[in-house]
Amino acid sequence: MAYSERSQAYREKLQNGEYDLGWMEVNSEWGVKATPGKRGLTLDDINVGSYGVIPKNASDSLSFAPRGADFDPAELPDMGYELNTDAEAWAQNMGGLYEEAVARQWSSTRDIPWHTLEPLPKDMEHAMSQLCTFLTEVEFVAGDVPGWWLNKVNNAYHETKLFMATQIMDEARHLEVFRKRALANGGGLSKCPPEVEEGLKYIHDLRSFPQMLARMNLFGEGRVLTLFRLGELIAQNEVEKTIFRLCAQDESRHLAFGCLQLRYLIQEDPDRIEEIQEALDVAEQRTIELGATPEQVEPLLILLGGGVEHMDKGKEKFGFIRKKMVQEYLQRCHSIGIDRQERCLLKEAQDITLL
Ligand SMILES: [Fe+2]
Ligand SMILES: [Fe+2]
Repeated sequence: MAYSERSQAYREKLQNGEYDLGWMEVNSEWGVKATPGKRGLTLDDINVGSYGVIPKNASDSLSFAPRGADFDPAELPDMGYELNTDAEAWAQNMGGLYEEAVARQWSSTRDIPWHTLEPLPKDMEHAMSQLCTFLTEVEFVAGDVPGWWLNKVNNAYHETKLFMATQIMDEARHLEVFRKRALANGGGLSKCPPEVEEGLKYIHDLRSFPQMLARMNLFGEGRVLTLFRLGELIAQNEVEKTIFRLCAQDESRHLAFGCLQLRYLIQEDPDRIEEIQEALDVAEQRTIELGATPEQVEPLLILLGGGVEHMDKGKEKFGFIRKKMVQEYLQRCHSIGIDRQERCLLKEAQDITLL
């Protein structure tokens, strides 16, 4: 029966004072009862009975229908989801990561002690403005990319979609906070070099989900996390320390998301390892090609050293940060089941590179 005929028939039924109630004969699990824990009712708490069964393959259902509902996939629209297996689009602990993201949201308006900001020497403010401009560009891509992928994930894996939505919100707040910092102390926004834009466009244009996760979450956000965790070295005041600390909290979740997904994919489908390795080859290569520009490197040398006069001192500290970025990156690769000790290009690179 066509949709409109079904509606018309029901309208007539209603006019005759009759009801249908056929929808109560539902072919989904009845009698399940999710129990709240100490923290309330979490996403994991509601994974009870058949509702908590994660399908290995959900490609027979490409509609908006939620996991566990009563529906006939043949009758529902095809939304063209492309990530339709648990190996590609789901991982253990995704629900917990989502709960953490929701619990740890902060406000760039209220939670940064903006009123304590005092003028910096001109070279330092220039450096901070340039760094904040760069980070704002980076945060734009970090939100746009999960936004593009969100509607490729099958709804059977809603935990993944919900987490991606929190990442988009986190990145919105990050670009907001770096823009605010650039404008809050007399500097303003600064230059956007083509090398940075080119590097970010590459991430934006990747059309393999695991390759995107490897390039953006594992590689890019991993490096950003190392940098933010060492933010005490870059920060000149409480405002900047707070910004780096709060952003690092969020970035560690984004990195965890990428690592959980990739580790599970590798476990389920080891044939995909080479695809991930290749994405990391390109990531490292492009970092060497595009990461050494004065706009990316010199602001850090000024902030780390304590002024234009002390950039050599800044260079030493930057060497330490860079080394740590590579060490932590290699450990993360190892933790998800990828060995890059021999293959990594960054250890060999003599030049100073950033992201
Ligand atoms: Fe971010
Ligand atoms: Fe991020």
